[in-house]
Amino acid sequence: MHVFITGGTGLIGSALIAELVRNGHTVLALARSDSSAAALQAAGAEPWRGELADLPALRAGAATSDGVIHLAFGHDFSSLAAVARMVAEESAALAALGDELIGSNRPLITVSGTPPVPGRSSTEADPLPVDGPVGGRSRSVTSALELASRGVRTAAVRLPRTVHNEGKGGFAGLLTETARHNGFAGYPGDGTQRWPAVHALDAAALFRLVLEMAPAGTAWHAVADQGDAVRDIAAVIGRRLGLEVRSVPENLFGPLGSIFATDQPSSSAHTQVALGWQPRHPSLLADLENLQP
Ligand SMILES: NC(=O)c1ccc[n+]([C@@H]2O[C@H](COP(=O)([O-])OP(=O)(O)OC[C@H]3O[C@@H](n4cnc5c(N)ncnc54)[C@H](OP(=O)(O)O)[C@@H]3O)[C@@H](O)[C@H]2O)c1
Repeated sequence: MHVFITGGTGLIGSALIAELVRNGHTVLALARSDSSAAALQAAGAEPWRGELADLPALRAGAATSDGVIHLAFGHDFSSLAAVARMVAEESAALAALGDELIGSNRPLITVSGTPPVPGRSSTEADPLPVDGPVGGRSRSVTSALELASRGVRTAAVRLPRTVHNEGKGGFAGLLTETARHNGFAGYPGDGTQRWPAVHALDAAALFRLVLEMAPAGTAWHAVADQGDAVRDIAAVIGRRLGLEVRSVPENLFGPLGSIFATDQPSSSAHTQVALGWQPRHPSLLADLENLQP
């Protein structure tokens, strides 16, 4: 397939381009700068100039492809207003990509997050939460999935809180950055809340399987580790960076504090059976051993 992707220079997108090329697909990748275009070219993709706010460029990229995988998101979590701006930008982009594909029966794969469910691991059948600072992302994913009834083979890959590679990425990556900044490794509350995780190389393999075979309107869980206690994650970060590990108030983590404090284990049992996906790369706690002071 000739696949149009957004976010191809990111942690997950760069793993995805390698996975797609290795499996015989060709990739057209959105590039918003010269340096991103050069990186995409070096990775084996053809750069397509534009950015998320450039809806005509997105539509034209989608129109020339056999399918679309949307990953790009501006990660400015400095304030609620900044998060709302990023969410609005992404919602408009995803709506434009979906609209372009109506009636084509081509795949549109988008990212989502695994939902938190009190007291148990969430499954692919659980609904996405639509409240909180990033609830708007869930609403736009739900709208995209509804295009299944209008001739788009839409699917959502729900990612866990941490998608990692070489110890970097996701919520654990934000804990590490905060630890470096503060000079101690903090975790919110008593740290027993659990976050699921997956290695970026395993997530990339799932995106490819979903692109190739997922039925329209379906959601999948890219979960390898069902849930690590956050204090265990902070303990590895603290040890690797040589910093004290301690409990901190959740507001230390800004707009994401309440999500950081939530227990949210998740399962991928259905995804593994239905798509034959098997995570093979290191767990989060093992991968964090790659952190350097
Ligand atoms: N990593 C995780 O743990 C995790 C967990 C759950 C969900 N997710 C979601 O998965 C997706 C990919 O995550 P990631 O970790 O790979 O992200 P990342 O490493 O931060 O990369 C972000 C990508 O989005 C692109 N981008 C950002 N704003 C853009 C804009 N306005 N126009 C065009 N491109 C833009 C960036 O391009 P440039 O290189 O040009 O900046 C980059 O390719 C995101 O939707 C993220 O929220 C990630």
